Amino acid sequence: MPLQREESLSLSSKIEANGKIGFSSPSNIALVKYWGKYGDQLPQNPSISFTLDRSRTEMILEYRLKGGLDNHKAIDLTFAFEGKENKAFGDKITAFLTRLLPSNPYLGQLTFNLSSTNTFPHSAGIASSASSMSALALCICTLENRLFQNMNEVETMKKASFLARLGSGSACRSIYPLIASWGESSAIADSSNLYGTTLANDLHPVFRTYKDSILLVSKKEKDVSSRAGHKLMENNPYAAVRYEQAKNHLAQIVIALKIGDLDTFIRITELEAMTLHALMMSSSPYFLLLEPNTITVVRKIRSFRENTKIPVCFTLDAGPNIHLLYPETHQEKVHDFIHYELSPYCEQNKWIDDQVGNGPFSLF
Ligand code: PMV
Repeated sequence: MPLQREESLSLSSKIEANGKIGFSSPSNIALVKYWGKYGDQLPQNPSISFTLDRSRTEMILEYRLKGGLDNHKAIDLTFAFEGKENKAFGDKITAFLTRLLPSNPYLGQLTFNLSSTNTFPHSAGIASSASSMSALALCICTLENRLFQNMNEVETMKKASFLARLGSGSACRSIYPLIASWGESSAIADSSNLYGTTLANDLHPVFRTYKDSILLVSKKEKDVSSRAGHKLMENNPYAAVRYEQAKNHLAQIVIALKIGDLDTFIRITELEAMTLHALMMSSSPYFLLLEPNTITVVRKIRSFRENTKIPVCFTLDAGPNIHLLYPETHQEKVHDFIHYELSPYCEQNKWIDDQVGNGPFSLF
């Protein structure tokens, strides 16, 4: 399967090159975390995530053939976010597409109008790069297929995952439903550092409807970007040990996810969350993304689990918000717990009731 075409395809004037493509693509939440990269957005360790359902980006790509025959070189794109032109995001997407231009010269022959909206509130503390870059990658691959009919569905998804990775590493996992990994692992057939791999066929029923209630402890913009955080791993004295630990965790959690072993799932998921933040705190310079309320909520979740025996656990992204993970069958009791005991520690008592989802879909 060619991930980057070697030959240059060029639009023939006969091709009807005007149209519209749209995708809705979800965010994902990592269980084993990717933290540390090398080369061209390649992961230092394999990772695995649940694909979410309700936290999504909807992206619409309109394209048309450029007028002048000579004007075929540069990317010509406008971008609107939530209905308003956004030059800063537009420039980032233009830079991304410009990188693809040498192997995809047809991109220079079209004019693009791109627009996107998120289903979750802006600056809710939810990273939108995974949902937006996966949606964009799916639009681009669908466009390529529409113009050249060169990929089947599996190949289109693999290439979309590859392109999403170039845009924002963890976005490559959002292409797939339910559960996806990214990064070479002896525990996963067909795993690669270049693109994500679906594990949906090896997921126990209990995890197929797993809930993720996202507790918005703070909606503040984080002061250290994940790009800077990954970079700091280059000099983190614990890096090598960490990468080994992640490989072992991945091998163990893949089995737990397959057989429905909630104890192992909880142990690894929480340890991964704590390790991610411990790595931030042990980078030089160190940084701290947890808030006091994050710690309070973590303690409450552990006591609730001990007292009720309900298998609820937490994970954290690169920020202070808490993802509360639990089987759907316990939804009612956990919702009460959130409502009465946890939401007071959330900004404006806000939380998002998300769950494992079926991945991206085409809007038209
Ligand atoms: O994909 P990035 O560069 O935004 O990094 C994501 C890092 C984490 O969300 C913390 C972990 C992960 O695997 O998603």
